[in-house]
Amino acid sequence: MDYFNYRRDKLFAEGIEAELLAKRFGTPLYLYSRRTLIEHFNKLKRALKPVKPLICYSLKANGNLSLGRILVKEGAGLDIVSGGELFRALKMGCPPGRIVYAGVGKTAEEINFALDKKILLFNVESIGELKLLDKLAGKKGRKQKVALRLNPGVEAHSHRYLETARLESKFGLGLGEALEIFKIRNHFPALNIEGVHIHLGSQISDPSPYLKALGKLSSFLEKLKGFGVNLTWLDLGGGLAASYRAEEKPSSAEDFARTIIPLVKKTRLKLIIEPGRFIMGNAGILVTKVLFLKETGKKKFLIVDAGMNDLIRPALYGAYHQIIPLKKKNVKKKRFEVAGPICESGDFLGKNVLLPGPSGGDFLAVRGAGAYSFAMSSNYNARPRAAEVLVSGRKAILIRKRETYQDLIRGEIIK
Ligand code: LLP
Repeated sequence: MDYFNYRRDKLFAEGIEAELLAKRFGTPLYLYSRRTLIEHFNKLKRALKPVKPLICYSLKANGNLSLGRILVKEGAGLDIVSGGELFRALKMGCPPGRIVYAGVGKTAEEINFALDKKILLFNVESIGELKLLDKLAGKKGRKQKVALRLNPGVEAHSHRYLETARLESKFGLGLGEALEIFKIRNHFPALNIEGVHIHLGSQISDPSPYLKALGKLSSFLEKLKGFGVNLTWLDLGGGLAASYRAEEKPSSAEDFARTIIPLVKKTRLKLIIEPGRFIMGNAGILVTKVLFLKETGKKKFLIVDAGMNDLIRPALYGAYHQIIPLKKKNVKKKRFEVAGPICESGDFLGKNVLLPGPSGGDFLAVRGAGAYSFAMSSNYNARPRAAEVLVSGRKAILIRKRETYQDLIRGEIIK
């Protein structure tokens, strides 16, 4: 569900014709729909109302300050993974008491920064991190709340790179190891180990992995009780899928809620979830202009002005993003590879894309580009990163300027 729809033959972003925005702000251009964003957040909030979760939007999906601020104003907390994300979170006005911090490689500087800001929870991923955190919190005379990130050994049935809870993964602590840590929790006087955290992976389209993981967690929590450990927080991470194909029906917020609520209630713990893609994925599109039509002996290419530096998901994961014209034409559709200007054969946005014979100057929209799209963009091939525009009804505001050539060399020193 989103608010990028055709009215007659023209694609609209909420109440504005997308092509007008492409012409006004230039391309490549990220367009976001405020309403889509808020509705996805509220869908989850409504569905999970019986367990009143703290919904910590996962900032890595899209860290734009204006977008994050919308969610923070709606009551979201934030899931962060670096000092830079903490900096962004604070700029968004997020109360530190609603920030949770995961990641396998937190540095002492990052930990100190987060301790000073008094965030809610560190989701700790190794014994080394726990020791360091205890030492640093101790030096500050602080008692810091911590959850242990567990690796329950559950397959998320998603892309190999998007799975994070298989036993061979670098993330989290094995259940046995975590149990040992709980037994010696007094060895960490500056920490209160108050919760458990899992994150199974991303683009999880049916709720069964959560069910499996919760089953394993429940028996783990029972064991803990045996050692007199009483916890407060249960953080189930993110992972809920967005819709990338018109025909696909990923599990809805309601399915997810129906599956987890009974088990969550049984634990009597306070629930945190960390959705990124579910909230942001469908709230953005990438608008690109067709530069040239190119036919080789074997294939028809549409060479467009957005490349893998703007949206790397197709090149990196073979991810599918639907590509549609901003203006429908009544001509026969043909199959194209939609390719960018980057000097890499892997630089494509879509293969076998059926389009109504676009020509140079026409615009296309790459859908489902709200999450992990701008966030993973780069300056490869010395390409300035795209502008970002937020649409709300009939209003469009620039929320990130297009980069300039000067931006490309910022910080460089010629010797
Ligand atoms: N919590 C933790 C600890 C995470 O590592 C992640 C995502 C999330 C929450 C949010 O997951 P989500 O709800 O968005 O699935 N670049 C990849 C996705 C990587 C996800 C990394 N971790 C992609 O473009 O598909």
